[in-house]
Amino acid sequence: MKFYIANDHAGFNIKSAVIKLLEDRDYEIIDLGTKSINRVDYPDFAHILCEKVLKDEGSFGILICGTGIGMSMSANRHKGIRAALCHDAYTAKMARAHNDANVLCLGERVVGLGTIESIIEAWTQTQFEGNRHEHRVQKIEL
Ligand code: RB5
Repeated sequence: MKFYIANDHAGFNIKSAVIKLLEDRDYEIIDLGTKSINRVDYPDFAHILCEKVLKDEGSFGILICGTGIGMSMSANRHKGIRAALCHDAYTAKMARAHNDANVLCLGERVVGLGTIESIIEAWTQTQFEGNRHEHRVQKIEL
């Protein structure tokens, strides 16, 4: 599994822990910034990441901001991106199983590291179920 990761200043502090969780599981991870706590605009980083994910078939994205909300709103403007804001392992599991989500959005100010670990575990261990969910996912695109 290959992941692109990007964040704004409000998602910077937790990013290194997220990267470590993924590297410990031997996943490839590419950090697209921002790389400091200096203020930036979350849509800029969401758009950079989505373009990478769309060009790299089979890859996933992780976007982190304060709440995860702005990142998910920005990411879902891209045709072909299905970004899921997940606050727990169950939503992460269902985002993959039923929605075939390809971008995971996290809120650093909302979830702690233990929860993030369980979200990553659920995301990486769950496959899209297809079948009845396939045409629903196709209907998402306008
Ligand atoms: C930054 O203060 C904050 O607004 C941003 O990280 C994010 O939470 C927006 O949705």
